[in-house]
Amino acid sequence: MEEYLIKGGKKLDGAVKISGAKNAALPILAAAVMTRGENVFTACPQISDVSSMLKILQSLGCKVDGSKETVSVDASMMNRCRIPDSLMKEMRSSVFLAGALLTRCGEAVISSPGGCDIGKRPIDIHISGLEKLGAKIEQKDGCILIKGNKLEAADVIMPYPSVGATENIMMAAIGAKGTTRLINCAREPEIADLQNYINRCGGKISGAGTGVITVEGGRELKGCEHRIMADRIEAGTYLLMALATEGRVFLDGISRPLIEPLMRILENAGYDIKSSQEWIWASYTGGRNIHGIIRTAPYPGFPTDLQPQMTTFLAKAGAGAIIEENIFEKRFEYVKQLKKMGADIEIFENKVIIRNNNILCGAQVEAQDLRGGAALVIAGLMADGSTVVRNTKYIKRGYGEFTEKIKGLGGEITVNEN
Ligand code: UD1
Repeated sequence: MEEYLIKGGKKLDGAVKISGAKNAALPILAAAVMTRGENVFTACPQISDVSSMLKILQSLGCKVDGSKETVSVDASMMNRCRIPDSLMKEMRSSVFLAGALLTRCGEAVISSPGGCDIGKRPIDIHISGLEKLGAKIEQKDGCILIKGNKLEAADVIMPYPSVGATENIMMAAIGAKGTTRLINCAREPEIADLQNYINRCGGKISGAGTGVITVEGGRELKGCEHRIMADRIEAGTYLLMALATEGRVFLDGISRPLIEPLMRILENAGYDIKSSQEWIWASYTGGRNIHGIIRTAPYPGFPTDLQPQMTTFLAKAGAGAIIEENIFEKRFEYVKQLKKMGADIEIFENKVIIRNNNILCGAQVEAQDLRGGAALVIAGLMADGSTVVRNTKYIKRGYGEFTEKIKGLGGEITVNEN
């Protein structure tokens, strides 16, 4: 098992090139199965979730090529619509393939979704949306069989703005006759990136980024070239990491509005921040304390994917602050590990309360999910002494060239293979 060995206490200082977004790349790669002809994706993040998705595409008969950040996918010769169980369980995002496969093949066979264990993560909103378009869904031997070769457009009112369900239903609607409207859908910018990609392939979707998306069904999609948008969660992680070590950072390739809620909190607390459409620069400016409640919420609210990194940052800079988790009920697994490092924080219902600010001490800790794992690395960099973060496989699901980027900022981190 691989682990990171971190020597803490060093102020990070330098620049980080922000990669393409995991949460845009995964649904866009899934959408590629609806196209005929070659797609070339640039700024594709080099993370294990993307590798798993590419393996799934290959298992379906797609031609996948490329290395590093440029990947080509040609689904012209695709000949299967059943995702192998072993690959499906590697990550939850393969559920997005249901809508895309329905459009391409008129059927999809998926198994119960895997991914990080951060709560119940049901797929009822996906299922009811697909049913509204006329898909027939059956559960058999642990698999979900979805059939629908004559889908019809409909108004789909979503009971909750689920990101994945919005993307899935959008993709199924491409194959449905007529114009579908998704009402109360999620507004995350990665959904707009998916819309842009599909439209570039010849689709006609509008409204992504707002609460109503309109999809004109029945259009043939061809391949295209698409640059994956920047990863706002990766950017937020390095920003908090640098400030947590009382350092400074230049984030190259990210525009401020994508992480506005985080920027506002830091700016209000007096951190020095400058930005343009293309970059953000932030610097520690001396003993600032962040007060009040930070509540996670669907976009444009504070992202749940930055909650563990924020709590870790607050362990030293936010005595009295409260962070409330409103999206996933099991996203505090990392708290026990932070307490092991001396953080004076407590969980109360869906909140973490920062009681006092403590200097953290190095310890041996376990990553239990992707963002919680990244938070523990931040903790290790802030701490006095050495920290070992075990189970790095979770972190690699969403952060490409993680240790290289940290070293580029002057952080002392090495990889141990056991
Ligand atoms: C996506 C992101 C993930 C992020 C999350 C919330 C990707 C690949 N992943 O995950 O990084 O943390 O958005 O911003 O884009 N829910 C239901 N029924 C459903 C679907 C969802 O009850 O059918 C619930 C979930 O259990 C959760 C909430 O809705 O409590 C949000 O989930 P959702 O927006 O669907 O997140 P994901 O698409 O899984």
